Amino acid sequence: MTPVRVLGISGSLRVGSYNRALLRAAGELAPSNGIELTELDLSPIPFYDGDVEAAGDPDAVADMRHAVRESDAVLLATPEYNRGTSGVLKNALDWLSRPALASVLRWKPVGVVGASTGRGGTRRAQQQVREALLFPGAHVLDDPEVAIPLAWEHFDADGRLTNEETQAALESLLGGLADLARARTATQAA
Ligand code: FNR
Repeated sequence: MTPVRVLGISGSLRVGSYNRALLRAAGELAPSNGIELTELDLSPIPFYDGDVEAAGDPDAVADMRHAVRESDAVLLATPEYNRGTSGVLKNALDWLSRPALASVLRWKPVGVVGASTGRGGTRRAQQQVREALLFPGAHVLDDPEVAIPLAWEHFDADGRLTNEETQAALESLLGGLADLARARTATQAA
């Protein structure tokens, strides 16, 4: 079976990020769900600016749009900063939401996950990400939830996801995302 191409995007840029570690864990679980996961780095993406957009997408933005367009599904891993998502991820979603009503996110199957060191496990950040995906028209997977609180309890010192319950939830989310992507491909082919 052709693998489902999933584009993983972390809203945290730091090397030791729990959210990047979460995407790596998803990448390890991916093959058993028929998924091929690649990660997109948001560090080269400039701040959204309508004047810059009007003059033509910067290369990094054009590359990001292309990567999303070519993917069968997107997996967003959000940190939580001050009860919301990171500016880095919100900025990327603002770029991707353009042009209005013709976004590359339209009908795109999207999974949202996140890890934080607080007790809420990015639930509030994920809510904000889901809201930002409404207008662009993404098809966001609702279940199962992967919102990891007290992240250090779920990962080892090398950033490997060791908590079995969290692994199972992530695996189940990947399965759901792959099913959604396959259903969309089948509809497009029909
Ligand atoms: C945080 N952190 C945090 N955690 C949380 O659960 N709720 C919150 O509102 C916040 N707010 C917050 C603001 C700022 C500016 C920082 C830098 C951090 C802690 C956060 O969860 C922790 O730093 C994570 O490790 C960030 O994710 P990455 O970088 O590990 O992926």
